[in-house]
Amino acid sequence: MAETDLKAFVCGHPIAHSRSPIIHGHWLRSHGIDGSYAPIDVAPADFVRFLSGLAAAGYRGGNVTIPHKEMAFASVQRRDQAAEQIGAVNTLWLEDGALWGGNTDAYGFAANLDHLAPGWADKGGTAVVLGAGGASRAIVHALKQRGFDDIRIVNRTVGRAIELAHQFGSGVTGHAQAATTELLTDAGLLVNTTALGMHGNEGLPADPSTLPDSAIVTDIVYVPLETPLLAAAKARGLRTVDGLGMLLHQAVPGFERWFGVRPEVTPELRALIVADLDRKK
Ligand code: ATR
Repeated sequence: MAETDLKAFVCGHPIAHSRSPIIHGHWLRSHGIDGSYAPIDVAPADFVRFLSGLAAAGYRGGNVTIPHKEMAFASVQRRDQAAEQIGAVNTLWLEDGALWGGNTDAYGFAANLDHLAPGWADKGGTAVVLGAGGASRAIVHALKQRGFDDIRIVNRTVGRAIELAHQFGSGVTGHAQAATTELLTDAGLLVNTTALGMHGNEGLPADPSTLPDSAIVTDIVYVPLETPLLAAAKARGLRTVDGLGMLLHQAVPGFERWFGVRPEVTPELRALIVADLDRKK
């Protein structure tokens, strides 16, 4: 097959920071696929035109990142169930002449925990999610799907937490930051989806000291890999999972759709991205 038959992309604005080309490039090489995955900077004003030209440009599909995920949701012809529930699209593909939009962030979040904290969802139960933005929405969706029946969203702007909880319905509640200490006392899982702890935005989004000893703490931030929250949780002896795996696992379904092979998240792939993060410190 000619290379032009197997073309995919990641589009965003800006796009230079995206690690997705390294991930997909690695999988293309390791599977010996003669395809391409290119970063494309698309300004918001050009996004809809970009989408309408995909088929003519020979793309199988691609990824969508900040700030286009909601616009992609509104612009595709068909959506998968996760995108429908999350209200954002991060993966596009052409199928039977239609442009489809899916969301693999919830899948990536759950697959990362399956991989690094097996059994994390076996008992469902109580989870505390910090933040009420787009990432939080994907994670609450994943937690509901995996059987958590008491999901507590905590946010600096409490109205956003309550609104998000309301959209998910029973088993999901919204809370102010002041309630965090109390909310953690019987939680099995704590997830940070806020930008707090990210390089340049240092800080602790919550104090993990009141969590039960059996709790798992995870952060979707992966720059740095060990966020202040994960460091504090580790110091307390809790199980922790960093956010890099979510990035790696969310890429799997897209690659399979465009290139026809289900790739694996391996230590080798993780090491490639860790090396890139180290280079750009
Ligand atoms: P994303 O799509 O990554 O979730 P977002 O929609 O901008 O991004 O949401 C960012 C989240 O991080 C929000 O919950 C935000 O809280 P507010 O709704 O109060 O803005 C949270 N956040 C960002 N900076 C924060 C900070 N310094 N302290 C606490 N929460 C913060």
